[in-house]
Amino acid sequence: MKENSGSIDIKTPFIEVRDLAFAYEDADGRRHEALRGVSLSIPKGQFVAVLGHNGSGKSTFAKLLNMILLPDKGEIYVDGELVSSPVEPDEDTIFAVRRRIGMVHQNPDNQIVASVVEEDVAFGPENLGVAPDEIRRRVDASLDAVGMREYALATTSHLSGGQKQRVAVAGVIAMLPECIIFDESTSMLDPSGRRDVMKTIQYLNRERGITIIHITHDMSEAALADRVVVLSDGELYLDGTPDEIFSRPDKLRAVALDVPQSVSLLHELARSVEGFRVPDCIKDAEECAEYISMEFDRLGISAR
Ligand SMILES: Nc1ncnc2c1ncn2[C@@H]1O[C@H](COP(=O)(O)OP(=O)(O)O)[C@@H](O)[C@H]1O
Ligand SMILES: [Mg+2]
Repeated sequence: MKENSGSIDIKTPFIEVRDLAFAYEDADGRRHEALRGVSLSIPKGQFVAVLGHNGSGKSTFAKLLNMILLPDKGEIYVDGELVSSPVEPDEDTIFAVRRRIGMVHQNPDNQIVASVVEEDVAFGPENLGVAPDEIRRRVDASLDAVGMREYALATTSHLSGGQKQRVAVAGVIAMLPECIIFDESTSMLDPSGRRDVMKTIQYLNRERGITIIHITHDMSEAALADRVVVLSDGELYLDGTPDEIFSRPDKLRAVALDVPQSVSLLHELARSVEGFRVPDCIKDAEECAEYISMEFDRLGISAR
């Protein structure tokens, strides 16, 4: 269990989505439904992973939340206030929603605008008209939060993929968002870059109380969330805790998704090793290895 999950306020949803639908229109005017009748409610401080095969509507969902797109049908409420519906919103609403709900994209090169790290992080608050001394404070605090303070004066193009992505995250944090959507933000990174970005995401969620919507293909990343939402063909297909979702490998395979290797290994061991207990929380690969060795010790099995 994560430490602060008891403090999540389930009664007042931060984001509430009701019966959301969106279709893209192609050049011939034909409509392709990307999202159909999606309803869900996300409490403040929750870490939600969104899974789904390619084309299942994940990015469309993110763009609707960020008001890059407007729904054809349905509504989005933020903090109980209607912000998005098929009715054209005013600029102030869009601006306010984008400040409260930040977005980190797949490729950091598309998000980073300045050649020096601290200038890049300052860009967002500058656009908001924040005072210079406050910008300085926010830039320092944001770089601290992503563990990139020592790179403040570095050239952005010289950074690794993972470092660039953390700078992109700092740029979003500097706007003081209450929620951050990560749209496959780890998918272009090497394993160490992924790990650093995932640690940053967990830190922002646990220590800063930021609501996280993490779109990913990586099941071990989804296992770190409080909740997993699975989209399939534009519809909400599964919604539950990682344990609930990953204990239904059949349901996942039916939509071309697979359970994490560590999870299937633990279940396999529980079936084949007498007394072996599956932990009550899904582990990442490293924790999984430690857990197995502890269980083997407890059972007096030597794992040579
Ligand atoms: N700009 C677009 N124009 C037309 N169709 C699109 C566009 N973007 C996405 N789609 C279609 O909408 C569906 C959902 O896409 P998307 O939300 O990007 O899915 P995901 O992020 O899960 O891969 C797919 O069938 C995709 O081909
Ligand atoms: Mg996508």
